[in-house]
Amino acid sequence: MTNRIQSFEEYQKEYEKSINEPEAFWASKAKQFTWRKEWDKVLEWNFDEPKVEWFKGGKLNITENCLDRHLAERGDKPAIIWEPNDAEADARTYSYKELHSEVCTMANVLRNQGVKKGDRVCIYMPMIPELAFAVLACARIGAIHSVVFGGFSANAIADRINDAACSFVITSDGMYRGDKHLAVKETVDEALKKCNTVDKVLVVKYTDRKVDMVAARDFWYHDAVASASQDCQPEVMDAEDILFILYTSGSTGKPKGVVHTTGGYMVYSEYTFRNVFQYEEEDIYWCTADIGWITGHSYIIYGPLLAGATTIMFEGVPTWPDPGRFWQIVERHKVNIFYTAPTAIRALMTRKLDFVTKHDLSSLKVLGSVGEPINEEAWNWYRNNIGKNELPIVDTWWQTETGGIMISPLANHSPMKPGFATYPLPGVQPVLLDGDGNEIEENGVEGYLAVKFPWPGMLRTTYGDHERCRRTYFETYKGYYFTGDGARRDPQGLYRVIGRVDDVINVSGHRFGTAEIENAIDEHPHVVEAAVVGFPHDIKGQGIYAYVICSEDCMDEAQLIKEIDQEVVKHIGKVARPDKIQIVDDLPKTRSGKIMRRILRKVAEGDTSNLGDITTLLNPEAVQEIIDGRK
Ligand code: PRX
Repeated sequence: MTNRIQSFEEYQKEYEKSINEPEAFWASKAKQFTWRKEWDKVLEWNFDEPKVEWFKGGKLNITENCLDRHLAERGDKPAIIWEPNDAEADARTYSYKELHSEVCTMANVLRNQGVKKGDRVCIYMPMIPELAFAVLACARIGAIHSVVFGGFSANAIADRINDAACSFVITSDGMYRGDKHLAVKETVDEALKKCNTVDKVLVVKYTDRKVDMVAARDFWYHDAVASASQDCQPEVMDAEDILFILYTSGSTGKPKGVVHTTGGYMVYSEYTFRNVFQYEEEDIYWCTADIGWITGHSYIIYGPLLAGATTIMFEGVPTWPDPGRFWQIVERHKVNIFYTAPTAIRALMTRKLDFVTKHDLSSLKVLGSVGEPINEEAWNWYRNNIGKNELPIVDTWWQTETGGIMISPLANHSPMKPGFATYPLPGVQPVLLDGDGNEIEENGVEGYLAVKFPWPGMLRTTYGDHERCRRTYFETYKGYYFTGDGARRDPQGLYRVIGRVDDVINVSGHRFGTAEIENAIDEHPHVVEAAVVGFPHDIKGQGIYAYVICSEDCMDEAQLIKEIDQEVVKHIGKVARPDKIQIVDDLPKTRSGKIMRRILRKVAEGDTSNLGDITTLLNPEAVQEIIDGRK
């Protein structure tokens, strides 16, 4: 007996059931878990406030389901295989039993330091096993984790710590990325100069670099472990208690803290993991994402561990020490299910095929893609060279806000079409809307992608600002969750997500708001105004193009460009560095003073043949000037 969908016909039946009887459907999926008390009501919702509650009244702890529940049957099975940055170094494996005791120990360290249910804990760490322990240790004691990706700057960390009023930070003495060492602890120290809610910083010794420890605030993990027991009773949580906050960019203002709660997220991440990848008990599963993003939360940690799977955590990068690193790891650990981003595929497909062919990839059964649209060329390369022209590719569309995969083939069962995420998963009711918010019924159309019914993994709010959540996702189209994406539905009803329709740029699968980058650039004292747009980029999917007006007493241009670049690094992080910065005298504007981004996008793309009517602009001459100065 296996609780996976076994055929396309079964998928269709499950889908029907999930639409006709959503509560019975999701209750049947939730039953397999350990609940301290069963829920009183499966679902209560309205998309106006919005209010969405799944499994209300249910009591549980998600780590009991990730760990304790498996001990009897899978205690000695590898839970996490950690593959370090250094290709020569040994991997480290933690069985479910070992992971359980590591998590309990770290949970006790946190408890001993006074961290309690509901407290917010910021985690800023490399991809080392202690990062997974930290995430699960928070969940064990009911503390809310807020993981910040290691590529973000001190300012970005400070913004996130302050927004959630975190009282505790977990970090390390350093981090490796390819041939680089990054000073993680120093970045945290810098961030904390701007924060006054943090009492304690727990530091994991990893790189053994010398770091400053602030008395009464900072303490070493290896010291604290000595007095921590391995026995830790889980905090009993309400199904709707917050599990974590994860910051993501939108079209306006600072990144917002997307809030996920415990019960629904648990049921959804496990169900989608098991079904999309068609996970089987002995499979070795590897998702190459970083735990700093939602993909890492749902499909490195929670989904796989809830399913009792063996999940690989990789510290390094795909191209170091050479572009065969991914395939070497597949061979080394006999990976069966491999889940990565199109940007990695595009980076690797430009290299000699030798880097692929010299490795034995025969263990692979399922390939996955996530984070951005996958272009046909990359899809075909992935399928032919990694998938031996026979493996299924699951192109999974979803978002930080959705908590788990929403539209995707089920490996081996669903039809596949390059670039198409295909059909919605059971429980997901996507619609395409026209500009007036009407549902488009027919196929062979494009529209705004929205969802008309709740699913258990969806966001509940944006931390500390529910109104922002309502405005961002539930106001544009009344009665719907609006994704911010545009999509096409082909004549057979298969979905292809085309990309963002708002001012969000997707760079290598990472989301940045144009306003966020503009604000960072504006911090430079010589900058008068900046406009940022995305443009097609061969490897990253989209690149960042910044047009900047600077003050008259501007220094030399090359120097200014360098400084603007550094301003972005300082305020957001290296991950958001513009690919191109063009200094301009003026930006094309409408008569009401609005920047004409459409024109800026065209110029950035290098497509100036059809700019439309520019004579109505306030300053049409600005257009030619930016065309002439294009980098
Ligand atoms: O535009 C869509 C794109 O990534 C956005 C979500 O980004 P984020 O919240 O960072 O989560 C990324 C990992 C789930 C979406 O609004 N996107 C994600 N997956 C796909 C995609 N676009 C096309 N096809 C996909 N498979």
